[in-house]
Amino acid sequence: MKVNDFIKLKKNNEKITMITAYDFFSAKICNDNKIDVILIGDSLGMAVYGFEDTLSVTVDDIVRHSQAVKKGAPDCFLIADMPYMSYHLNIEDSKKNAARLIVEGKADSVKIEGGSKSRIETIKALIDCEIPVVGHLGLTPQSIHKFGGFKVQGKHKDQQQEILAQALALQDAGVFMIVLEAIPEELGKLITEKLNIPSIGIGAGRYTDGQVLVWHDLLGLSNVETKFSKKYLNCGELISSALKNYIDEVKKNDFPKKENIYYPID
Ligand code: KIV
Repeated sequence: MKVNDFIKLKKNNEKITMITAYDFFSAKICNDNKIDVILIGDSLGMAVYGFEDTLSVTVDDIVRHSQAVKKGAPDCFLIADMPYMSYHLNIEDSKKNAARLIVEGKADSVKIEGGSKSRIETIKALIDCEIPVVGHLGLTPQSIHKFGGFKVQGKHKDQQQEILAQALALQDAGVFMIVLEAIPEELGKLITEKLNIPSIGIGAGRYTDGQVLVWHDLLGLSNVETKFSKKYLNCGELISSALKNYIDEVKKNDFPKKENIYYPID
């Protein structure tokens, strides 16, 4: 899949599938199952490292995990998140950080949160360096201090107008896709209808051009209980039961068995 293919999918009304992944083995399963896009999201900080938010994730973290994902999923389109403060300070640093995600991390594109004027300038500068950029509006987790927590955005008319205007400005700046997070379905639908580029929803209702979920939430590997997420498997319980069996067998000397032993003595 290449950047331009996503617009074709939108035109053909074909939904785009996206999931986060952070390591080789998960990425391989995504690749084998032909998911369209893997996001090496800064949700890494919460899902993998156990932090309360995404703010302590670094460019080095995303580069390392993106390399692992690329090895596991050579056929999937990869989006690497630009972490907090990696594109906020000045355009030169933003270019260098984005370039690292592409050159070292082997991602196909980067994702940036927000749609303010300064954000648009940064995005234009990256696109000018041939770096494909994905936008992200609505509940942008790097703005939790401004929002006062992980709160649904765009509940009021003026906020909806602002988010729609930012989506159009991002499109004009040249992003090829926009993630819409935790907004009312009506706003997700309106933005999707107004854009020529695809929208990918996470808690943005049924009308976006695609959906994204966090790997750990989908598989029941986290204790995140959000309205918009869906647990397709209770992996946590499966792992617990396997671990209990292992502990039990070792305690009872039922493991290892003869077939697990090199040159057994009897
Ligand atoms: O970091 C992430 O996983 C994300 C998704 C929630 C869209 O940005």
